[in-house]
Amino acid sequence: MINEHFGTIPPSYLFSEVAQRVRDYQSAHPGARVLRLGIGDVTRPLAPAVVDALHLAVDEQADAESFRGYGPEQGYDFLREAIVAGEYAPLGADIDPAEIFIGDGAKSDTANIQELFAADASVAVADPVYPVYVDSNAMAGRLGDFRDGRWSRLVYLPCDEGNGYRPQLPDGHVDLVYLCSPNNPTGTTLSREDLAEWVAYAREHGAVILFDAAYREFIVDADVPRSIYEIEGAEEVAIEFGSFSKTAGFTGLRCSWTVVPRQLIVDGVSLQAMWSRRQSTKFNGTPYIVQRAAAAIYGAEGREQVRADIDYYLRNAALIRDVLRGRGVDAVGGDNSPYVWFRCPGGLDSWQFFDALLERAQIVGTPGVGFGPAGADHFRLSAFGTHEETLEAVDRLAELIPSLSAAPASAPTAAEAAASDSDTTTES
Ligand code: MLT
Repeated sequence: MINEHFGTIPPSYLFSEVAQRVRDYQSAHPGARVLRLGIGDVTRPLAPAVVDALHLAVDEQADAESFRGYGPEQGYDFLREAIVAGEYAPLGADIDPAEIFIGDGAKSDTANIQELFAADASVAVADPVYPVYVDSNAMAGRLGDFRDGRWSRLVYLPCDEGNGYRPQLPDGHVDLVYLCSPNNPTGTTLSREDLAEWVAYAREHGAVILFDAAYREFIVDADVPRSIYEIEGAEEVAIEFGSFSKTAGFTGLRCSWTVVPRQLIVDGVSLQAMWSRRQSTKFNGTPYIVQRAAAAIYGAEGREQVRADIDYYLRNAALIRDVLRGRGVDAVGGDNSPYVWFRCPGGLDSWQFFDALLERAQIVGTPGVGFGPAGADHFRLSAFGTHEETLEAVDRLAELIPSLSAAPASAPTAAEAAASDSDTTTES
């Protein structure tokens, strides 16, 4: 009677597992000052222009004349139009407001989009990858069995030092390809040439690209594409996801958008019409006040304030990356991205390093294996902490790393390391 595919997935979601381990550590060490560079949750408060828009919208809801109940499931036109004007027109991408669907977070939409595709559609993901793409397809029964950390029917596109952490085209045909740039977790970006190759692949194979651009506002290099629709022909093969979470501190407010172009026709069917049908059945829209808040980032003041916050996080990212590199760790990301990715020092695997970092430096990061098998020996640090905490964290990191690197080839497990440090109870 129940969906048997839930039985095949690992019992807990990556970030829930990390949070649980941190709670365990904190209850065992109540006095510890734990610095959080794990989940990419923002710490800057909402921009003043966003707060003003929220207040105004709340006042509208308090007045019978301007009160609004259910909104359009696809989003209010004022926000769809603002996204077209603010995000796509400046790139020369010909996107129409009717192709923009307002959502409550890129997490929901990237998880739900797979409902448009057949139960036996083949799926490829960059490895490592944001776990939502994989888990949502696993729940739908598309990925086969999970053994030794790998799904039997999932096409993994390994990203490592050798290919500059860029997914390479699959050897044969796949139906769906998830791409993310700037990438979560590696912090690397895809170039215009990379994206053009992917669009050509999708056109040749009749594949659909699911392009997650949630971190696009962190791109500062002019030659790095911010949207897949900068590539000619992409509107015939790609769906794109954008988000206000990291751009404008909306991780708590919840607002995002998904672009499903009209030209995207698969097996003679319009995915735009399908997604519209899906949303009107299963979703009643992002709250009006939140959509008003999101639209405020496209005003002159909002834009400037949000930019200052992004620059703040980018400064943290550069700091983390530079301190790691200064300690001989070959870290990537952190320039057009809030994430820094690196091979764990001292020959530790990613959970061992997670434990060492938590127990010996009281820093929370995210173990690479949670993003896929290629992340088994890698680690992600996030730049979304406060600048003060990031400064403190990099000092602790700078102290910890040489002691790990000096470890013998068979490095102690985190538990052994912690035992020699005498004060831990957290398990790896
Ligand atoms: C992350 O840390 O990867 C993200 O914050 C997770 C998310 O956006 O859902």
